[in-house]
Amino acid sequence: MSPLIFSLSLLAISLHSCTLTLGQNSASAPAPSGPTNITKILEKAGQFTTFIRLLKTTQAGDQINTQLNNSKQGMTVFAPTDNAFSSLEAGTLNTLSSQQQVQLVQFHVLPSFISTSQFQTVSNPLRTQAGDTSPGDFPLNVTTSGNQVNVSTGIVDATVSNTIYTDGELAVYQVDKVLQPMSIFASPSPATAPSPAPATLNLKKKSPAAALSPSSGSDDAPPADKSGADRLNGVVVLVIGAFWFVFWL
Ligand SMILES: *[C@@H]1O[C@H](CO)[C@@H](O)[C@H](O)[C@H]1NC(C)=O
Ligand SMILES: *[C@@H]1O[C@H](CO)[C@@H](O)[C@H](O)[C@H]1NC(C)=O
Ligand SMILES: *[C@@H]1O[C@H](CO)[C@@H](O)[C@H](O)[C@H]1NC(C)=O
Ligand SMILES: *[C@@H]1O[C@H](CO)[C@@H](O)[C@H](O)[C@H]1NC(C)=O
Repeated sequence: MSPLIFSLSLLAISLHSCTLTLGQNSASAPAPSGPTNITKILEKAGQFTTFIRLLKTTQAGDQINTQLNNSKQGMTVFAPTDNAFSSLEAGTLNTLSSQQQVQLVQFHVLPSFISTSQFQTVSNPLRTQAGDTSPGDFPLNVTTSGNQVNVSTGIVDATVSNTIYTDGELAVYQVDKVLQPMSIFASPSPATAPSPAPATLNLKKKSPAAALSPSSGSDDAPPADKSGADRLNGVVVLVIGAFWFVFWL
């Protein structure tokens, strides 16, 4: 393990502990009504447990809260229901790298407040927190007809089925489908796949690369589609190692 990475982990953990300590100290003071909290809003609305979990694991929830507190533009969030997530092909989320999970969540967040009536006049494609709106990257289009608002990614066409929350700064809309960005879900050309396991929707097919991997030894070679889990294991080991180090000090 490189000393740099190790030191960075330690630093991150120390910072985390400091934050926790500060939080506990200031918790004794009576809290004011508090800043807008996207998690709290979604928890109250119910049926968004998967999206809430993604907001937490990717830390996008904290970013939204911080950005809302610091910007005048406001924000808009498209929140897919638990039903929307369960109608994805099984295992879809698990095949995504952690970076892709962050991008997926950011693709559901617009860096400005858009009311239902403003949707009638926005110009496509809309910019999301995921960035580039060019075809093949993270384009998001809105189409309206009367009061109906649809959101199209080039892969899915979702319908805004409800306004969960709006206060002039933050708008949270319920959508009936997970907004799948082209960048992650458009089927990659089979020839170009040496980089992180392609986010194919078909989990049953093994990539040819996995079959060819030079690993006929005794140790079980992880198939290509497990690389995400292995990376996670690496992180867990790193964190546990760092903890031991801290205790040892
Ligand atoms: C936001 O709300 C969630 C759930 O109610 C809570 O766990 C979290 O600590 C809150 N975050 C902030 C910054 O208040
Ligand atoms: C919100 O912004 C104020 C002023 O910019 C800052 O003092 C405060 O710490 C921020 N709160 C959070 C939760 O980011
Ligand atoms: C929105 O999507 C629904 C279902 O896919 C479709 O029936 C409807 O015509 C769409 N409306 C608009 C304005 O695109
Ligand atoms: C989104 O809108 C732009 C501009 O109207 C258009 O060029 C593009 O094809 C649309 N993409 C999708 C996926 O609807």
